Amino acid sequence: MARRSRAGNGATTSVLPTAPRGHSRAANGTASEDAAVPGHVRDLNLAREGRMRIEWADRHMPVLRAIRARFAKEKPLKGLRIAACLHVTTETANLARTLEAGGARVFLCGSNPLSTQDDVAAALVTSYGVSTYAIKGEDHQTYYSHIVSCIEAEPHVTMDDGCDLVTVLHTKKKEYLKHVLAGTEETSTGVTRLRAMAASKVLRYPVIAINDADTKHLFDNRYGTGQSTMDGVLRCTNMLVAGSTVVIAGYGWCGRGLATRAKGMGATVLVTEIDPLRALEAQMDGYHVVSMSEAAPLGDLFITVTGNKSVLRREHFLAMKEGAIVANSGHFNVEIDIPALERLSDGKKQVRPFVEEYKVQGGKRIYLLGEGRLINLAAAEGHPAMVMDMSFANQALSVEYLRKKGKALSKDVHSVPGEIDREVARLKLKSMGIDIDTPTADQDRYMRTWSEGT
Ligand SMILES: NC(=O)c1ccc[n+]([C@@H]2O[C@H](COP(=O)([O-])OP(=O)(O)OC[C@H]3O[C@@H](n4cnc5c(N)ncnc54)[C@H](O)[C@@H]3O)[C@@H](O)[C@H]2O)c1
Repeated sequence: MARRSRAGNGATTSVLPTAPRGHSRAANGTASEDAAVPGHVRDLNLAREGRMRIEWADRHMPVLRAIRARFAKEKPLKGLRIAACLHVTTETANLARTLEAGGARVFLCGSNPLSTQDDVAAALVTSYGVSTYAIKGEDHQTYYSHIVSCIEAEPHVTMDDGCDLVTVLHTKKKEYLKHVLAGTEETSTGVTRLRAMAASKVLRYPVIAINDADTKHLFDNRYGTGQSTMDGVLRCTNMLVAGSTVVIAGYGWCGRGLATRAKGMGATVLVTEIDPLRALEAQMDGYHVVSMSEAAPLGDLFITVTGNKSVLRREHFLAMKEGAIVANSGHFNVEIDIPALERLSDGKKQVRPFVEEYKVQGGKRIYLLGEGRLINLAAAEGHPAMVMDMSFANQALSVEYLRKKGKALSKDVHSVPGEIDREVARLKLKSMGIDIDTPTADQDRYMRTWSEGT
């Protein structure tokens, strides 16, 4: 049985040897109150609330449920150990249940120190038998020690969100590389880092870029990040968006979704970009494209979502107006140059949960949300389950694919196979009760000929 103890940082620990084999676990992802698993979470007593929220999310994840039912019968992942470094949310819990239903053993840690939902982490350990190492607000050292715990489980597959786990594995824990068959990566920033690793020939196994599946970025990044970022901002500020000026840095998949939501709520939206094509698209979509220097004195709310660093920096803070609010929804907390803001400030204080007030030279106040970490996960619940359903269906099916084909793939970044993308779209449409047309034989033939014109 799990031995519970108080850790120095106030977290409740469920302690067992971290050996990947030989301890009980929940069958088919169903609840098992007495599952004894290793892990490190804040408080196991939060499990009941976490379980209710996980079940609520599951009701909105029909595609993943269908995959889980098949996995439970076919056990395509039998014997596979998966180290997953993902945001520990209700949707991730349902992905972990699906992988375990397929016969895998999942070792989960958070992919951001502020994004863990402590009740979900507790439920994963006590009710679903998933080894979970994640505590909301964990410090830098604990964050990395949790990643190491998952690596020490000797995974065959890594599942990353931002590439931190893969980086530790390729630098400080190389001895565990020999067990790894392949991996998956969830987000744009992680894919960028992996491509850099592959280009430098240091990537030691194939990785599938989940982010690049159409059924991921077209929906998760656009609609998920768009809605949940505004949700995070509103939960911590309760600001009125209508009539305000919102500056969005980056018009990628996330930025497009965010701009649509902010505009729909009545804001004047300014967009900043470095890519001329994206800038042109934003202008033609009806936004004002400006440089950040032009935007700085105008914005009431600034949100960065670029995957780049120091997008908001000293010169911009100096030009901002009294009371400006700055937030980030990009993967890392480097998009806002917080050290520069600290240097400019006479002092800072927390004025609401996830809101820090900085007194900038001369007494002007600037409000930083969620320590500059992804605000939709820090202050809200992240993407709605309905959209994570598709992203995580891609994850589950890609792991199944890697189990079969991983050995034949080169040590590079690979796309999600087209048939998986279409299968996820087909299952989602089916769950929504939507039928689409099938081409007639004549249409089929017409689309394949070149001789029929006007
Ligand atoms: N918050 C979330 O839940 C969530 C979800 C998905 C992705 N992400 C993260 O959000 C970020 C963006 O993801 P995406 O899918 O939109 O990526 P993307 O590559 O489609 O878009 C990023 C855009 O930012 C632009 N950009 C880069 N540097 C810039 C700068 N200095 N100023 C202005 N624009 C700049 C790029 O030209 C590009 O158009 C990534 O870090 C990704 O990992 C977060």
